[in-house]
Amino acid sequence: MIWRAQGLFVTGTDTGVGKTEIACALLRIASRMGWRTIGMKPVAAGARRIRERWRNADATALADASTVRAPDRLRNPYLLRSPIAPHIAARAAGIELQIGTIVRAYHELARRADWIVVEGAGGFCVPLNAHAHMGDLAAHLRLPIVLVVGMRLGCISHALLTAEAIARRRLELAGWVANRIDPSMRYYRDNVASIAARIDAPLWGEVPFVAARRVRRLTIERALKPARLAPRLTPEALAVTDRT
Ligand SMILES: Nc1ncnc2c1ncn2[C@@H]1O[C@H](COP(=O)(O)OP(=O)(O)O)[C@@H](O)[C@H]1O
Ligand SMILES: [Mg+2]
Repeated sequence: MIWRAQGLFVTGTDTGVGKTEIACALLRIASRMGWRTIGMKPVAAGARRIRERWRNADATALADASTVRAPDRLRNPYLLRSPIAPHIAARAAGIELQIGTIVRAYHELARRADWIVVEGAGGFCVPLNAHAHMGDLAAHLRLPIVLVVGMRLGCISHALLTAEAIARRRLELAGWVANRIDPSMRYYRDNVASIAARIDAPLWGEVPFVAARRVRRLTIERALKPARLAPRLTPEALAVTDRT
């Protein structure tokens, strides 16, 4: 038997909906179950210079939540300095984002870890270049997808459109998370129920709004119901028979 890396692709209904928070929680849950984990941010837009190096907050958060160290060029193949749409930021920087480069980096990471969580940028159809978008990358990585729904006015349509785009590519929507980013949202429960009734995937958890960072982390981990994740993290799920 050999191990193959498994993992999840975390997408969201928008930017700023909680993808990074949920991705980090998934990594921490997997690491507590004993797996070697790596969080990948293939394309990051927005960087700050810290001690002579350009850093992106998402890439840093994912690295901190991982148990395996890996070079930046693999964990975050594209670091764009401007916090704008990736294909526009790339053009401004004079480069073209290549899915092949990201897929090669992913396979390198997959040799070093058991469990990889890949965080997209923005929503599912954010362009990478003139021909491809984030959803195409998800298709190349062939990872099951987790959809983070930022619970605010307008999220129902965004959630259903994303689920449709995932289904059209015949990708697996493993589950979705209702993240209450707007505590003043009215009829929150009706909104969750409206999505649940129309989306063909299990609700992995409901995350309440929590202002304090540390408490939020623990709350998210608890809300994600590790039981949902557990079947994907059993030795059987990660093992493939080596026929060579
Ligand atoms: N459940 C929550 N309660 C309170 N704040 C949250 C919650 N989820 C996310 N946030 C905050 O919202 C912002 C966006 O979250 P983030 O995970 O960075 O989103 P994304 O990765 O989708 O851009 C961050 O400041 C984060 O700490
Ligand atoms: Mg993020």
